[in-house]
Amino acid sequence: MKDKAFLGARYFMGSVTNVANRPFRRLVTEYGAHATIGEMAIAKYVANGGKQDLILIRRDPHEKIFGAQIVGNNPNHLVKAAKLAEKFGADFVDFNCACPHQSVISHGGGAIMLKRPSTIGDIISAIRDAISIPLSLKIRKGFEADDNVAQEVADIAQKAGIDAIFIHGRTKAAQYRGNCDWELIESIAQNSDVPIIGCGDLAHGSDVLAKQETSACAGFAIARGALLKPWIFKEIATHTSMDPSSEERLDMLKKLVAYTIEAYGISEKNMARNQTFLLKQLEFLVRYVPTGAFGRELPMQERSDEWTPRDELEKLWAQTDKDSMMTLLKMAGFENNEQGMQN
Ligand SMILES: Cc1cc2nc3c(=O)[nH]c(=O)nc-3n(C[C@H](O)[C@H](O)[C@H](O)COP(=O)(O)O)c2cc1C
Repeated sequence: MKDKAFLGARYFMGSVTNVANRPFRRLVTEYGAHATIGEMAIAKYVANGGKQDLILIRRDPHEKIFGAQIVGNNPNHLVKAAKLAEKFGADFVDFNCACPHQSVISHGGGAIMLKRPSTIGDIISAIRDAISIPLSLKIRKGFEADDNVAQEVADIAQKAGIDAIFIHGRTKAAQYRGNCDWELIESIAQNSDVPIIGCGDLAHGSDVLAKQETSACAGFAIARGALLKPWIFKEIATHTSMDPSSEERLDMLKKLVAYTIEAYGISEKNMARNQTFLLKQLEFLVRYVPTGAFGRELPMQERSDEWTPRDELEKLWAQTDKDSMMTLLKMAGFENNEQGMQN
């Protein structure tokens, strides 16, 4: 791993819209994430002062190093959003040129920006001039299946004054399928003057520890690995492989429920929103395949139903239907209607 880290952080919780919200980021910070990135905020809506959009660029007091992520293609909106993120206390701004979603791309933002490398450079220069906190860029390998523009974009971004680059080694066309191109990430990291943070398919602490032995990256960002097992950051910190029991996982969920209520409150409207978030988070948490029951750590790109839960609670954790997830939430202390009524 390169000596020079971005803001002193090595292990980042990647940005995950609708899942890695403030309470979730607080949880992974407790497990040892050095830095966290907020859910992607549409620069235009942030610039226009949308209440729900401004929330996305705000840090949680428990986060150590927080990056506010913005997306768009209009320099005025992006500059305004970046300045607001700085004003609200973000430690860095992350400019997203990687999002594959049609709703973002159809407005000219996210991964489609990879088709316009020089525009990315112009926007970076404009934001760089407007804020005094560090600015990072999030990119993919390219847009179309055969594209490979990451090195070109990285060069342009560095000339424009970027402070760090997060690279997910897949094209927009690949979405999350196929292998992440770590060879590409490494070759860019080797030639880069700014910290490169590699992302993609880091499912376990052991994956990160093995990679960093030889990597030229300055750090790693973990998304799905941390959604399935938020304790991955503790595995990295302690150099161990963890296999929490079903009870320990429930204790973790209790914390997440408590942090959610603390962050957003218990008004009826907020409890409905809290439930939506918690169910989204559970959709990932219930897909963790316990290492002890399966016999080995399951790689990110492999799926398996071939394991036997070790107790009744682990059996419940393995269910992916909404009713079972609601049962888990109730066991973790979440009572939507009742608490909503009290308020
Ligand atoms: C449900 C979901 C939502 C995501 N939302 C964002 C986002 O808002 N901004 C972003 O830069 N990346 C987003 N990502 C991409 C991840 O941050 C990460 O780059 C990608 O998943 C590869 O890393 P992983 O293999 O560790 O998941 C999202 C990924 C998932 C699965």
